Amino acid sequence: MSSAEARAAELRRVIEQHNHSYYVLDEPTVGDDEYDSLLNELRQLEAEHPELRTPDSPTQRVGAKPLDKFEPVRHLQPMLSLANARNEEELRAWDARVRKLAGEEAPEITYGTEPKIDGLAISLVYENGLFVRGATRGDGEIGEDVTQNLRTIKEIPLRIPDAPPLVEVRGEVYLPRSAFARLNEERAAAGEPTFANPRNSAAGSIRQLDPALAASRPLSMWCYGIGTTEGLSFDRHSEALQWMRDRGFKVAPDTKVHADLESLVAECRRWENDRESLDYEIDGVVVKVDELDLQRSLGVVGREPRGAIAWKFAPMTATTTLRAVMWNVGRTGHMVPFANLEPVQVSGVTVKLATLHNEEDLRRKDVRDGDEVIVMRAGDVIPQVVSPTAKAQRSKKRSAPPEPPAECPAC
Ligand code: IVH
Repeated sequence: MSSAEARAAELRRVIEQHNHSYYVLDEPTVGDDEYDSLLNELRQLEAEHPELRTPDSPTQRVGAKPLDKFEPVRHLQPMLSLANARNEEELRAWDARVRKLAGEEAPEITYGTEPKIDGLAISLVYENGLFVRGATRGDGEIGEDVTQNLRTIKEIPLRIPDAPPLVEVRGEVYLPRSAFARLNEERAAAGEPTFANPRNSAAGSIRQLDPALAASRPLSMWCYGIGTTEGLSFDRHSEALQWMRDRGFKVAPDTKVHADLESLVAECRRWENDRESLDYEIDGVVVKVDELDLQRSLGVVGREPRGAIAWKFAPMTATTTLRAVMWNVGRTGHMVPFANLEPVQVSGVTVKLATLHNEEDLRRKDVRDGDEVIVMRAGDVIPQVVSPTAKAQRSKKRSAPPEPPAECPAC
């Protein structure tokens, strides 16, 4: 091995180690200046010796050319969905069904809990440890190849150690709530349409044909499961989670395993209570039978495995009447619309005012005085009006689209 080759390999390893510490563990190990100088040294080496530019090089995270379209990919194994439990009763009914199907002979059943991330389901394929392909869920059978954009996400390892010949890692790509709030503020200030919620902004970002645009959005990914594998097997789901953590994937830190239903229900309620304090949106808790043999033997009904269920939280949206669109003067002197609402409870908080961002957004959403509207609290302390309801849109008696006042209300 030439010294340049050895140095390039060392730099790749060290840089990805720093990426893992910073992005996955949230424990930076070097300052920006040192990190940049390592990356620059690697770029320089690769420019001088293009043959050293490997697909798992951190320099290859961004840099691919924009695509014309995304290619379809067939998943190695279908990406399923989950049945819901909306309350404790439904969770108990599910547990009773699992126990009945498992039969008297079944060993003691334990249940894993983890947050249900409200993002975009993604599958990552690793061949001999190298990240080769990533795809959206699509219809569950066929998704879109978004590998280029996934490479820009530093939480996704480009190479994994001690890897089997094949492994498919599944998880949820999302935009942190803080990043979502910032992105919407920037878009509103630039007069661009805002995103309704972090999920839509993550979906919009991962479907950018230009990877440079995707790279400019601080997307991240929580991994929660393993699909097809060759040369890898686990007895328990909790072991698969730990395997992913050990390989550098970002896995929710608070996954637990419960031997009884009381502890399971308490954990679901704890997540619901803590929901607002997290920097990512969760819309429930996923409960999974931890014993994988049993999980498999329970089978699938339609698209839903019997061995897992989603405990769903109360929705973050509510419907109310828009009394009137009102106007403020923004920082740069332009008029900023906001909504005066009939007070309504949204996930435990009374909402009377909501943002409408800017005139363009208002026009795009086409909300009008008197409309029945959908209000949402998400990723942002300021609630927002998402849209008029379908009923309001069909109504024959709508008022005219609101216009900003001719005279500045502040002067
Ligand atoms: S397990 C059996 N675990 O929820 C299907 N899904 O309705 C495998 N999701 O689109 C799902 N967080 O992408 C699982 N911790 C988690 C999850 C999770 C979010 C999404 C998943 C899927 C939807 C299922």
